[in-house]
Formats: sequence, C-alpha cells, structure tokens
Amino acid sequence: MNNFTYSIPTKIHFGKGQIAHLSELRESGEKVLLVYGGGSIKKAGIYDTAMKILKDAGLCVSELSGVEPNPRIESVVKGVGICKEENIDMVLAIGGGSVIDCGKVIAAGACSEEDPWELVLHPEKITAALPIYSVLTLAATGSEMDKFAVISDLKKNEKWGTASEHMKPKMSIMDPEYTYSVSKKQTAAGTADMISHIFENYFTNVSNADVQARFAEGLLKNCFYYGPVALEHPDDYDARANLMWTSSMAINGILSDGAEVAWCVHPMEHELSAFYDITHGEGLAILTPHWMEFALNEATAKKFADYGRNVWNLPMAEDDMETARKAINCTKEFFKDMGLPSTLREVGIDETYFDVMAEKAAAGCKGSYVELTKEDIVHIYENAL
Ligand code: NZQ
Ligand code: ZN
Repeated sequence: MNNFTYSIPTKIHFGKGQIAHLSELRESGEKVLLVYGGGSIKKAGIYDTAMKILKDAGLCVSELSGVEPNPRIESVVKGVGICKEENIDMVLAIGGGSVIDCGKVIAAGACSEEDPWELVLHPEKITAALPIYSVLTLAATGSEMDKFAVISDLKKNEKWGTASEHMKPKMSIMDPEYTYSVSKKQTAAGTADMISHIFENYFTNVSNADVQARFAEGLLKNCFYYGPVALEHPDDYDARANLMWTSSMAINGILSDGAEVAWCVHPMEHELSAFYDITHGEGLAILTPHWMEFALNEATAKKFADYGRNVWNLPMAEDDMETARKAINCTKEFFKDMGLPSTLREVGIDETYFDVMAEKAAAGCKGSYVELTKEDIVHIYENAL
C-alpha cells in the first residue's frame, strides 16, 4: 500500500428529511447562489422546500437554472458573473453530478481572476473557492463528496475533469427519497457510473492494498444487488439509500488512497461525451466490458478472477483465466439486464472520430492498470462499435 493522507471535509446529512440542515448555510454568510438543472427539482417539490428553509434562515437567494447534463462552460461563466456582481457568499447546488460540478467550478471561478475554462484545463490555478453545499438528487458521480468537476466546451469538442481540495463540498444533503423520481435510464446509467468508479480504483498495480480491494468488492456487490431493485421499484428506500451511499464511497478516496492508479475507461468515455454529448454512464457501460477483454492477460487474470470469485461467487476451483472470462461475461450481462446500451452505434456513434478521440484519451490514460496506446484505444472503440 502507498502512503496517503485521507481528508474529507464534507459533512454528510444522510436520510429522510435531512434537507432541514440547509439552515446551516447561515454559517457561511447571507448570500447564496442556488444552482440547478432543467427543472426536475421543481417537479419533485425540492425547490419549494429548499427555498422555504433558506428564506426562514434569513438567507438571500440568487439563482442559476438550466445547467445542462454534461455541464457547459457557458453556464459556469454565467454563474461566476452572478457571484461577482452580487457578492455571493456561497454556492448551493441542488441536482445530479452535472449541477454539482457546475456549482463547484462557479465557486472556484468566483475567487479567481482567471478565465473559468483555464481552471478546468489547469487545476493548479484553483487557489480558493466559495463554500460549496449540495443537495444530491441522483446517485452516480460522487461529486457530492469529492474534489472533481467535469466541464464541457462542446463548441471545441472538449470535456475535461478538473480537481481541487478547495472544491470538496462543505456539506452535502443526501435524502434517498429525492432519487425516487430518477428515470430508469438515469438510474441504470448512474449505477454503471459508480460501478465504473469502483473498477477504476480496484484494477490497480499497487500490491497488497487489501482493505481498499475488499471494500471495493463489497460496494460492487451492493450495486449488482440494488441496481435492479431500484429499476423495478423506483421508490424502494433501501435500494435508493444503498446506491446513494455507494456513489459517494466509490470516489471519495476510500478506495483510491494508498492504491493510486490512473483511470482509463473514464478518459475514453469523456471523449465520446465530448464529441457526441452522450450520457456518461451509458458510455461507460458500453466500453467497460471491452476494456476488460483487452486488459485480460496472463498477468492480470488473477485480479479478474478475484473479482469473479469475491463479487460473483464464481467457484474457487476453476483456473484464473476461465474465472476471469466468466466474470467479464457477468459484467456484460448485468449492464444488458439493466437496459443499458452495449454498442456505440446504439447511442449514435460511428468510427468518424475514433482516431482523434483515441489520441486525446491516450494522454489521460498514462499510468493506468494496463497501459493503453492510441492504437489500443481505437481497437477498443472498434470492438465496442
Ligand atoms: O436537469 P434536471 O432537470 O435536474 O434533470 C436531470 C438530468 O436531465 C435528471 N435528474 C437529476 N435528478 C433527478 C433527475 N430527474 C428526475 N428526478 C431526479 N431526482 O437527470 C439528468 C442527468 O443529470 P446529471 O446531473 O447530468 O447526471 P449525473 O449525476 O450522472 O452527472 C453526470 C455528469 O457528471 C460527470 C459526468 O461526466 C457528467 O458530466 N462526472 C462527474 C464526476 C465527479 N464530479 O466526480 C465523476 C464522474 O466520473 C463523471 O465524469
Ligand atoms: Zn464516472
């Protein structure tokens, strides 16, 4: 295991009715910028509840609405403008990962003279941020408890992740009931996203990081069990609660600290979203089994077999390579059963940009579990077609 410093400043209020804690925003000042998406929070009544609590607490609320899935830099720029003009004290994002990511970079941009896109391209330029609060409404990205934000400039076909300790939320409210209204498509995509985050951390070259590995296997089992339950019964509290807490645990450092490895399926997927604006979790579900098939070899078979035995309960007696193949197949079948697409064509992608996407993704994959060249990535895209 590598050395690490584990630090999560985010206070989590988890469970039914925890939105009452929004009154605590008062500790960061008076003026809040409320950031939200295309209206799901209004339909679900979360907006009205939040506004009442904020007003009763004496907070003054400005709003930025309409943040897009795969949030655009234009929304960030708009939010930064409001913060600066109105001397905003803090940012409150209510929504899924897109809204929270947008809120995070707004909070950083409000404390900077840099062009906000520079903060996306050069995380080291983020030197401060307004306090960030979130109310999570979709279990997927883990943005509610991590330092990352992913922003797109679709005019340039660019989608990049930035990261900063300053962007870790100060407080996040996680009420599983708020995810009852999430569509089947987004529930499946969100589950695929957290599964992918776990895999990206699990397949590491750091040896003997067993706490992280066993924890990852437990979280995977949880996704494979509760994902289908949430699809079938959207208002099953236990399913939504267990998925929601898994989304945070998958990416808040518990699995990665001490077992660091560069991610590779995510850089490959971010290019698909940058060029075709697809749903992140769907792209991951398409690419993951093909990445696994590519990464499986004599050296990695043991790890894939561990995954098969410990997560899918495959028999201990069979040899590693056979078990590994079965485990990959279980993964593929799971995504299919969740109604997720399994080919790029299903989401409107053909080979037109494979070369340029692979070139950009390869830069992000340096230091991954199995090294990927640009040609390897083109090969994976072709297999996923
Ligand atoms: O815009 P609204 O109306 O809110 O609707 C959203 C959106 O259309 C809807 N939704 C959210 N909560 C809902 C709901 N609909 C009904 N009921 C609810 N309770 O769902 C749609 C998708 O929302 P979005 O926020 O885009 O989804 P998600 O949470 O999956 O976020 C995806 C974004 O996060 C990035 C992805 O690349 C993508 O841009 N990621 C962020 C990460 C991070 N910050 O750590 C890591 C991830 O790997 C990922 O890259
Ligand atoms: Zn992801």
